[in-house]
Amino acid sequence: MKKEKITITVDGKEVAAYAGETILDAAKRAGIYIPTLCHHPLLSNTGACRMCVVKIEGTGRQNLNSSCTTPVNDGMVVTTESPEIKKMRRLNLELIFSERNHQCPFCEKSGNCELQAVAYRLGMDYVRFPFLWPKKEVDASHPDIIHDANRCMLCGRCVRSSEEVDKKGVFAIKGRGIDSDVTVNIDGRLGDTEVTKDDVAIQICPTGSLCEKGLAYSERYGERRFDMKPIEGPVEPK
Ligand code: FES
Repeated sequence: MKKEKITITVDGKEVAAYAGETILDAAKRAGIYIPTLCHHPLLSNTGACRMCVVKIEGTGRQNLNSSCTTPVNDGMVVTTESPEIKKMRRLNLELIFSERNHQCPFCEKSGNCELQAVAYRLGMDYVRFPFLWPKKEVDASHPDIIHDANRCMLCGRCVRSSEEVDKKGVFAIKGRGIDSDVTVNIDGRLGDTEVTKDDVAIQICPTGSLCEKGLAYSERYGERRFDMKPIEGPVEPK
């Protein structure tokens, strides 16, 4: 079926959109950056992280909506950047950082972490809240994968990708509120499941929570420029 084309306004600019798609998808196609964490183009959206909040004209002064879950309407007027939006994103980000161990210098995914990248992009130079330092289990029972719940931000991407893409349903979020945790969906540990290191669920983790064993600090996990050795002599351009 042909998609109906509509027009919305994003940050004062007219943007072509398709009826039913999300504000995030329309904005992205127009080259407008909106930070995201729980969203991934392969997966359904849940609006868990609230990083992608935007202001929609006519929805009330305090009302910021997650752009990854809000469908566009013809004539919709959207603002993606303002002091109010910045404040809300920053607050959400600081809460995520304070709830678990997101201390980048000690994480093997440092340099290749979406949470870290968004924090840099948003200029997060401190966290106002006390760190909770919960002591979560590290599950190293799988021969190729390590699951460190201390580095989880509960975005649910592993749960959704294991269900929707890998078709295995290996992960689930159990518990409520601050006590929520991603765990395996069976009575057992990661090593008892059929998950493999190549599953999208493992590759799609935005933090250092689900990692392939043996890749710590390697190029694939974010080798940083200052870790590299300078090359002697002239280098031919590629
Ligand atoms: S990316 Fe939209 S709520 Fe997380």
